[in-house]
Amino acid sequence: MDETVSRRISVLKKERNAIILAHFYQRPEVQDIADFVGDSLELARKASVTDADVIVFCGVHFMAQTAYILSPDKSVLLPQIKAGCPMADTADADDVAALKEQHPDAVVVSYVNTTAEVKAISDICCTSANAVKVVNSIPANKEIIFIPDKNLGQYIMEQTGRHLILWSGYCNTHDRLTAEELLAAKRLHPEAEVLAHPECRPDVVHMADFVGSTGGMVMHVRDSHATEFIIGTEIGVIHRMKQLCSNKSFYPASQKLMCPNMKLTSLDDVLKALETVSPRVTVNDYIRSRALLPIERMLAL
Ligand code: 13P
Ligand code: SF4
Repeated sequence: MDETVSRRISVLKKERNAIILAHFYQRPEVQDIADFVGDSLELARKASVTDADVIVFCGVHFMAQTAYILSPDKSVLLPQIKAGCPMADTADADDVAALKEQHPDAVVVSYVNTTAEVKAISDICCTSANAVKVVNSIPANKEIIFIPDKNLGQYIMEQTGRHLILWSGYCNTHDRLTAEELLAAKRLHPEAEVLAHPECRPDVVHMADFVGSTGGMVMHVRDSHATEFIIGTEIGVIHRMKQLCSNKSFYPASQKLMCPNMKLTSLDDVLKALETVSPRVTVNDYIRSRALLPIERMLAL
């Protein structure tokens, strides 16, 4: 069944001149039919340079929105329109604007996990791959507001020595991993290196041997001499790690590390999206033109 669906996806993809982009947290079978699998930053870069007419974005809503903001002449499809990011939704643009009013000279740095409306009132975006670099690029005398992930914000503060005015958002999936659970995983696999995403709680991040984006983790396991790894991020990324390093072992830090939104998209959804060229994600011109600037500033760094 899946093979037939995959074949039809492949035929339709050519007919539509489409590219399929997938995040590392997508289901294995969805990653396997994608033209490119990556982290948020890599996917945004890919979306900005592709010459395809249609981008099928297997990820969550803010990722497809970012792709559209960068490539408004293309049809950007989100096969499962209900796939959102609850953390992105914790930051409402009116509330962010109110915080800005209290700190009129502050630079607003938004994680890409935000709505287009929040990006439109931000100065620069970042992902977990470049957040430290982005904050370090801001003059030392400037106040900084960081939206919306308090865990990533805390990590940036520790790495840069800068104070950030934090939002109170966090990722339900990553924040679920406790230091106790990680300790238990370490006891079970004492030789394993511990990798953590900076969206994890600070006490979890402090226990890690490597902290980085999903793409950073994939490169790390490829290049490390270690042969066993405890993975402190959404379990989907382990699929790519196993493909790259079949001789190494990967253990999820917790079975709870599963993002329900990232797991919504099925192969059938991808096929349907290609058949119907929908559901499309768009952003109105007013918001798009303003949201483009902070994304471009990030990509230029
Ligand atoms: P990455 O940018 O590391 O891929 O992370 C995206 C994300 O949503 C993490 O939860
Ligand atoms: Fe959002 Fe967390 Fe899911 Fe990433 S893992 S998409 S931050 S809810």
